[in-house]
Amino acid sequence: MAIVEPPTRLARKAMSTVVSSGELLLRSIVFTRPVRLVDPPSWVPHIPFAFWLIDALRPGTVVELGTHTGVSYSAFAQAVQILGLDTATYAVDTWKGDHQAGFYGEDVFKEWSSFHDHHFSAFSRLVRSTFEEALSKFPDGSVDLLHIDGVHTYEAVREDFESWLPKLSNRAVVVMHDTNVREADFGVCRFWPEVAARYPSFAFLHGHGLGVVGIGHSLPADVRWLVEQVNSRGQIAFTVREFFATLGEALLGQLRQSGHAHERAHMVGRLSEQDELVAHLTAEATRVSARQAENEATLRQVHALAADLALQLSAASVALDRARIDARAQGEQMSTMTTGLASLREDLRVSREQSEADRDRTQALKRDLAVLREDTRTAQSTADAERVRAKGLQNEIAALQGRLDRAYERRATLNRKVQTLRVTASRLTRQHAVQTSRQKKLARALKQVYSSRSWRWTAPLRRALGADGGSGFRSFARKLQAWAHAARALFSP
Ligand SMILES: C[S@@+](CC[C@H](N)C(=O)[O-])C[C@H]1O[C@@H](n2cnc3c(N)ncnc32)[C@H](O)[C@@H]1O
Repeated sequence: MAIVEPPTRLARKAMSTVVSSGELLLRSIVFTRPVRLVDPPSWVPHIPFAFWLIDALRPGTVVELGTHTGVSYSAFAQAVQILGLDTATYAVDTWKGDHQAGFYGEDVFKEWSSFHDHHFSAFSRLVRSTFEEALSKFPDGSVDLLHIDGVHTYEAVREDFESWLPKLSNRAVVVMHDTNVREADFGVCRFWPEVAARYPSFAFLHGHGLGVVGIGHSLPADVRWLVEQVNSRGQIAFTVREFFATLGEALLGQLRQSGHAHERAHMVGRLSEQDELVAHLTAEATRVSARQAENEATLRQVHALAADLALQLSAASVALDRARIDARAQGEQMSTMTTGLASLREDLRVSREQSEADRDRTQALKRDLAVLREDTRTAQSTADAERVRAKGLQNEIAALQGRLDRAYERRATLNRKVQTLRVTASRLTRQHAVQTSRQKKLARALKQVYSSRSWRWTAPLRRALGADGGSGFRSFARKLQAWAHAARALFSP
């Protein structure tokens, strides 16, 4: 890569101080001519430091939040290229702009992406998304260098810093631009002291300010020297700032010069364009003169034609007057008809409204009728069901009546039987009384027999009869029973 002009006197002075403080800044890469030196110019003064940082840090992964035309990104990428590092670089941007950088068109992305693809596509990718959307694409602890350069309000820069913090490795460095802008709603200058209080850091004051923060615990020695020692030693800090500011300002001068040269080339181009235009206009003027002569001849013919046409026109004008009178009469007729038509239209409108109202009423009545029909249908089916139920009940009543009639008949039969039984019972009662009285009479008769003299006298006989084993007695008893029977019959009524 080509080397820029020899360092200025100021840079030489700065270099001598630096050399004496450890030669840590003197890396040849810082004098490299940037491959991309374009507008906007605000980051241009930090290009030499970007070269230095890549050389000192040798990051594995670089992420930039906010790339626009690619000034800062190209510096990081160019250093990776020059040093032949095994680094992957990513530029995250919507490439639409924001309220501070200004909103821009698609042409910006087209121009930048074509430059990028041509120079850096071997190790670099453009991530066209918001910073927040891009977060998920990077593993935690994977980023060694993060450059924050999006919206510069306090809230936005703080959000960018905090949300990307987990993505940083243990040797990571964060760079944030615009730490020294104190205008409008720029707020990095308010956020920077908070960061500087938490982490070892160093801030450049030129080029709108650039803060460098050492996040990881395993920072390479030169980077640690920058963020840990330079900050605490005023003289070295001054020299470091002076060194990079001088180199950066030189690049800014180059950009302005190339801008002027570009403007001059543009003017020369425009002058030659104007010469061409003059030649073109002269030729055009000659052509116009020839065409003018032709036009004059044509004009004479046109005048003759015009005179003829004037005559025709006056005849036509008379005819037109007549036609106008007719038209006026027709117009009056038409206006009468129009009035009539308007009144007819009004009538029609009123009748339409009425018929619409009638239609609405009819529809409402139809709906009521449908409801009534439905009610009637429901009542009818309820009545049918009731009728069926009544029929069932009648059948049940008839069946019950039959059962009742049969019960009455049974009761009458039973009554008759009871009557018969009562008669039988009373007869039996009477018979029983007769029997009882007969038995009593018989008993009395038997008693008289037993107490009679003849019974006593016949006792020996009865005993004798008992001596033959009883059979005589039994026959005697039978005889006696026969006598008793005969006696009973004798006494029975
Ligand atoms: C100040 S410019 C970047 C300048 C650039 N670093 C340079 O070297 O010139 C800010 C860029 O950040 C982008 N930007 C701002 N906020 C963003 C966000 N939340 N997500 C993606 N891009 C954003 C804008 O589109 C704009 O291009």
